[in-house]
Amino acid sequence: MLTQDVHERLAQVGSGTPMGELLRRYWHPVAGTAELDEDPVHPLRLLGEDLVLFRDARGGLGLVANRCAHRGLNMAYGIPQENGLRCAYHGWTYDAAGRVIDMPFEPACLPLQIKAYPVQQLGGLVFAYLGPEPAPLLPRYDLFVRDDIDRYVEITVLPCSWLQCMDNSLDPVHFEHLHGHFGNYVLKKLGKPPMLFPARHLKIDFDLFEYGIIKRRLVEGEPEDCDDWTIGHPFLFPNILYVGDARPNYQVRVPMDETHTLHVRYQSVPLKDGTQSRREIPTRRVTWFDERGNPTVPLDEIPRQDMLAWVAQGPITDRTREHLVTSDKGVLLYHQLLLENIEKVGRGEDPMAVVRDPAKNEPMIELPRERSAYRAFWGDGHETRSRRVSVAWQNRG
Ligand code: FES
Ligand SMILES: [Fe+2]
Repeated sequence: MLTQDVHERLAQVGSGTPMGELLRRYWHPVAGTAELDEDPVHPLRLLGEDLVLFRDARGGLGLVANRCAHRGLNMAYGIPQENGLRCAYHGWTYDAAGRVIDMPFEPACLPLQIKAYPVQQLGGLVFAYLGPEPAPLLPRYDLFVRDDIDRYVEITVLPCSWLQCMDNSLDPVHFEHLHGHFGNYVLKKLGKPPMLFPARHLKIDFDLFEYGIIKRRLVEGEPEDCDDWTIGHPFLFPNILYVGDARPNYQVRVPMDETHTLHVRYQSVPLKDGTQSRREIPTRRVTWFDERGNPTVPLDEIPRQDMLAWVAQGPITDRTREHLVTSDKGVLLYHQLLLENIEKVGRGEDPMAVVRDPAKNEPMIELPRERSAYRAFWGDGHETRSRRVSVAWQNRG
């Protein structure tokens, strides 16, 4: 159970708040590059700020505050120019630094400026940085850079705090119940047979590494030298989970504000024999939960069940009323790490996983990951080993 003060430190994301200042030390993905091909003006919300991302007619990107300095029209209605974004109302034009560079009905252009932030593109995503200068490097995590995979991006807006998504990622044992027991219950209500019988967790552990936390588990039926236990998979501080086996993916939980998360799934796909990685990386937007947190799709798939777990805690779970127990040791470690890094920022230091050394970033940051994901037993029979384990788990009721 946390005190009200610590609960608020963890939950807030606005400028000037401790967590808001920590989160402003990182680059955050805000859109798929492909989305700007469809519409070069893209309104968004990041860390409690309403902004407009645009691609000008020369292909340059800008990210500016959404209110025109003249009389406040929303720049989401702006028109891209050769050199910036022109307000729909009276044509004031802003460059990528937010400076007004044209006032069509004035004798001279006044030296006015709105907020603007740097953006960069990598791996089919546009990233924004809202922190102090000098900005750190945009980390070249492996899936963003590798040329031996195809990729696509799936983006969902969720009506809950980003931290609820993250807590779930530091909580391995939920897999057994949420995706096994609850998932099969959902299927039963849909008139379908059970699908997943996860093996029981014997132990879980967490280790810090340069870019975050390595999460490891040993489940019934696995030897101690299995790579789920010896290697595990990483959680990239502060807000990226790296999961998967043959099709690894990043799940980036971008805080739009305290009660909304932009969930960016960055999915890799193995290349078919003889093909080359596609240059275009498609982005699709999906809606699985409405603003009130009600699911708009069946909850018969693992990612949707995870999202239910985040959203069904409410917009911000009250951490003064939680009872964290032994199986929550990863969540406790993560909260501790957040609080320690908030302190580091307060002392003027770089927090964990801020990259400034080009030698570490080039050509990419290779991350450790187990070859096989969590062992589970699928209802369609494509797992043959240790069926006994699944039956034992089922019999637990
Ligand atoms: S309100 Fe934008 S130019 Fe007038
Ligand atoms: Fe899960």
